Amino acid sequence: NMRNELNRLVNTVSDYHTKKAFDTEMQSFFYLFTRYLAEKAQNKELDWDRIKSPAADQIVSYDRLPTNPDPKMLNKLAVLKVNGGLGTSMGMTGAKSALEVKDDMTFLDLTVRQIEHLNTTHRVDVPLILMTSFNTHEDTLRIIKKYANQQLRITTFNQSRYPRIFKESLMPCPKSANDDKSKWYPPGHGDLYNALLHSGVLDQLLAEGKEYLFVSNSDNLGAVVDQNILQHMVDSQAEFIMEVTDKTKADVKGGTLIDYEGNVQLLEIAQVPSEHVEDFKSVRKFKIFNTNNLWINLKALKRVMENEGMELEIIVNPKTADDGQAVIQLETAAGAAIKHFRNAHGVNVPRSRFLPVKSCSDLLLIKSDIYSLQHGQLVINENRMFETTPVIKLGDHFKKIAQFQKRFKKIPTIIELDHLTVTGDVNFGRNVTLRGTVIIVANEGQRIDIPDGCVLENRLLSGNLTM
Ligand code: UTP
Repeated sequence: NMRNELNRLVNTVSDYHTKKAFDTEMQSFFYLFTRYLAEKAQNKELDWDRIKSPAADQIVSYDRLPTNPDPKMLNKLAVLKVNGGLGTSMGMTGAKSALEVKDDMTFLDLTVRQIEHLNTTHRVDVPLILMTSFNTHEDTLRIIKKYANQQLRITTFNQSRYPRIFKESLMPCPKSANDDKSKWYPPGHGDLYNALLHSGVLDQLLAEGKEYLFVSNSDNLGAVVDQNILQHMVDSQAEFIMEVTDKTKADVKGGTLIDYEGNVQLLEIAQVPSEHVEDFKSVRKFKIFNTNNLWINLKALKRVMENEGMELEIIVNPKTADDGQAVIQLETAAGAAIKHFRNAHGVNVPRSRFLPVKSCSDLLLIKSDIYSLQHGQLVINENRMFETTPVIKLGDHFKKIAQFQKRFKKIPTIIELDHLTVTGDVNFGRNVTLRGTVIIVANEGQRIDIPDGCVLENRLLSGNLTM
């Protein structure tokens, strides 16, 4: 059974300390696995009828927050980026945060600049903490090495590495503790709490007098420290705040806050019974979604971990192994922790605080002249005449980052663009300008090359074109 298999894995380690740490990790995994089996056996599904839209006091509008925050509060703050994911949907094999997004700087470089700016402006010492995984640790260290002698303190710690399990047999894929990377997985950003505790970083922060932790995704460039939210957290004595933002038709998949018997909880699409998925996606019933910008009271976190334990809803993530076998990963989401905290609620923030790169279309927009940088923060170019950013839809040929880089010799000028759709085998030359609505369609077996210096304004191009 699983217990024996895990013991066998642990016994493949000879070094005492490594073995002990690995054993702890496998015990946490076993606990998650046992819960998974129990829930599976009970066929436990969410009772849809008991799910309500959150009450008015469960989501506070950002406009209502204090606007005269006390900058001294920043001394009690630490910033953490969850940085364990690979960005598989963009075809990345290393840390997504190591991708160059703007002016030759990576996500991590931009985050460092944002916090350095905060610290120098207010003469405070907010540290940066990075949670990495076995997939992203090396990439991350390589990038932050250059900041070793700077003022900003950067701490990294590794999240857990759990064994993937075969879907049929429910047995672990790895045969030994050092078996191939592909047999393991990082168990989602909900692993944050366990990893903070087991790495000793939680105690270290508390010992330094830090009381608040601002967590966000490493690819969210809009997640800068906001003092109004921090002050609101202090004033309202909320132990946990989730930044949510208004849902549009494009973000139907994000988790949402619900009222479940008077408690505020996170609801992820993976938990929704299939017959209610359309309901879940509807913008009318669930108006907001989780940006994964989270504010956590560290003392309260410690209390929860020590007393009731940080049980989070299990998300079963099905995958296919290299050899084609069906495997599953048991994961958790950081936002699900909200139900464990007192006075926890959502704050509805402006969309600009949610600026992630989930696809190469997002990447094109961020790299382009629509945005410029101010102290590591993206700001909309003042020459943009419209309030909204262009809608960009790059087809499957641009899905993987390597393809994207190959197909854009240089990022086009798009300051006057409204809408871009590109389908098929299309390649962009240098110094291309796109304005208005531009649609480029290369059909199967065709190829379109946009030559250097080309200006396209309200144009539809299709067929086998070499211009
Ligand atoms: P996501 O998994 O939602 O998105 O991670 P992603 O990074 O775009 O990855 P793909 O394309 O779905 O594979 C959101 C944030 O959580 C971190 C990621 O690094 C990212 O910052 N994360 C995710 C972890 O830290 N650990 C995990 O196990 C998973």
